Amino acid sequence: MELLIGSHTDIVGWTETTRGRNEANSMSGLQDRVAIVTGGGRGIGRTIAQVLAQKGMRVGLNDVNIVAAETTAQELRAEGLPVLALAGDVSRKAEVTAMIDRVEAELGPLWLLVNNAGILNAAPAAELTEEAWDEAFNVDAKGVFLCSQAAIKKMIPRRGGRIVNIASIAGMIARTGEIAYCSAKAAVIHFTRCLAVEMAPHGITVNCLCPGMTRTEMLTVTAKERGLDLDRMVKLIPAGRMAEEADHAHLVAYFASDEAAHVTGQVVAVDGAQSLSHPYMSCEH
Ligand SMILES: NC(=O)c1ccc[n+]([C@@H]2O[C@H](COP(=O)([O-])OP(=O)(O)OC[C@H]3O[C@@H](n4cnc5c(N)ncnc54)[C@H](O)[C@@H]3O)[C@@H](O)[C@H]2O)c1
Repeated sequence: MELLIGSHTDIVGWTETTRGRNEANSMSGLQDRVAIVTGGGRGIGRTIAQVLAQKGMRVGLNDVNIVAAETTAQELRAEGLPVLALAGDVSRKAEVTAMIDRVEAELGPLWLLVNNAGILNAAPAAELTEEAWDEAFNVDAKGVFLCSQAAIKKMIPRRGGRIVNIASIAGMIARTGEIAYCSAKAAVIHFTRCLAVEMAPHGITVNCLCPGMTRTEMLTVTAKERGLDLDRMVKLIPAGRMAEEADHAHLVAYFASDEAAHVTGQVVAVDGAQSLSHPYMSCEH
């Protein structure tokens, strides 16, 4: 009995202490700030938008697929989250400018841009068409530039803001059959570093998150087309599992927070050590 009472007291004490610790540890600077997440109609972008809104941000959810953007925004609004659907192709400058202007007019000053929209054009180098190369670079690399440029024009006069680029571990390590995607993501990684150096004097941070395998439509559709065995590939990930979309979303929230004010130009893989293990994707052969 004594033990039980003692335990109960400990649990009450623990709960109070934990609550206090959680409050002290919770990320600050997100409440009521404005974010845009590109390619948020599904997959990783959808979850990033959801988690940021759950943490108090007002979120503009962009997608080139307007039905996906509107459906997802509606679903998140039904959860009580402040999310605005934004149609727009990140590779088209006029659409990007209109999207950023609309967010500023309807939600307020932009604090965070998450460059998440991406496409994976898979083909071996000898067979890759010029159109597929251009499309990969237009969306995966130029889209990041166009959105970042439009965002920093708003952020620089206010002396503050955050950009998080979603690249890929494919931009860090070489893969067969994905040369356009890998090259475009490598460009995003170095773009992050260059922009971080330019933006640091303006109080704007620029960081890059490189997801490892994450079970979204991008992955499952590509795997099916290429006949890849995802279950076998998961066995090669040292952590023994794929990344969850939320694993990425929480790092984005950290990069956006006041606690990360001095963290810039960093490239972080969220991949359970997938990119460090060798041989990579050996199950393809
Ligand atoms: N899923 C993975 O395993 C994985 C791994 C590494 C990196 N990534 C990266 O994470 C990001 C999100 O990937 P995902 O798996 O959620 O992909 P996904 O294909 O499931 O979702 C991508 C979204 O981006 C949108 N989009 C595509 N082109 C666009 C454009 N021009 N303008 C605006 N929106 C556009 C699509 O309509 C879609 O809703 C991508 O940049 C991708 O390269 C994913």
